Amino acid sequence: MKIKDFLKETNGSYILEKVLNKDKTWLFLHDDLEVPKEAVEILRKVKSGYPVEYIFEEVWFYGDRFYIKEGVLIPRDDTEVVLERAIKLINEKCKTKSEKCKIVDCCTGSGVIAIEIAKHTNAKVIATDISDTAIEVAEKNIALHNVDVEVKKCDLLKCEGEEIKADILVSNPPYVENSWQKPNVYEPDLAFYGGDDGLDIVKELILKAKDLKYKAAVIEIGYNQKNLLSEFLKDKAESFEFFNDLAGNVRGIEIIF
Ligand SMILES: C[S@@+](CC[C@H](N)C(=O)[O-])C[C@H]1O[C@@H](n2cnc3c(N)ncnc32)[C@H](O)[C@@H]1O
Repeated sequence: MKIKDFLKETNGSYILEKVLNKDKTWLFLHDDLEVPKEAVEILRKVKSGYPVEYIFEEVWFYGDRFYIKEGVLIPRDDTEVVLERAIKLINEKCKTKSEKCKIVDCCTGSGVIAIEIAKHTNAKVIATDISDTAIEVAEKNIALHNVDVEVKKCDLLKCEGEEIKADILVSNPPYVENSWQKPNVYEPDLAFYGGDDGLDIVKELILKAKDLKYKAAVIEIGYNQKNLLSEFLKDKAESFEFFNDLAGNVRGIEIIF
C-alpha cells in the first residue's frame, strides 16, 4: 500500500507520523513510497476496534499530551467542559480563602482532570481511584507534567478507612446504565457502569460530599439523567445547575451544598 492511499484512512496520517517519525508535510512529499508492514498491521488492529491511543500509549486532553494504557479509560473531549466548569468554580470560590482550597478529583482514571486543575488553579489537589492501573497511570502523568497532585487509592472518598474532607469535589465517575454497550470492549467496565439508571455512584458521591461538608461539586453525567438527578437533589443542595457539552447535550452538574 502506498502512503497516499494510507493517508485516506481514518487515523492513517497519525499512524504513519508515529511509525515513521515524520510530520504530515514529509508524508505528502513522499506519498508514492510504500507503507511499512508495521503501520499496515496497526491500521488493521485499529479498524477492528482497538483504540489507537492504547497502541501508542498517548492521548491529548485540554491541549496537553498524556500517557495512557489499556486498563484505564481514554479521556474524552466532552470532559473538557466539566474541567472548565470546575476550574471556573474553584477560582471563584477559592479567591477569598486565606489558605489553599482543597479539591478532590474522585475517579481520576489517567489523572487528566486533577492535573489540569493543578495547572490552572491555586488549589491543593487530591486524585482518587479504586483501580491500581489507574493509580499507576495517574502517577506517571503527574510526574510527566511535574504538578503537585496527591494520588490515593480509595473507594470513592474512603481511603484506608478514612473519608477525605475537602472544599470542592470534581468527578467524572462511572455513569452509564448497566444495560448499555460500551463504545469498545477494550476499555474497563469499572470506568463505565453505574447501575440500572447509571446514577448509583453519582448519587453516592453527592450524599458523601454533602455529609462531609464539601461546599460544592462538579460532576459529569449522561445526557438523559437530568430529570432523575433533579428529583434526587430537590432537598439535598442549596442550588444546582446543569451544563451542556459543545454538542448541546447535558454533560454535567454544578452543585452548591
Ligand atoms: C469515567 S472514568 C473517568 C476517568 C477520568 N476522570 C477521565 O475523565 O478520563 C471513571 C473512573 O472511576 C473509577 N472508579 C470506579 N469505581 C470507583 C470507586 N468505587 N471508587 C473510586 N474510583 C472508582 C474507575 O477506575 C475509572 O478510572
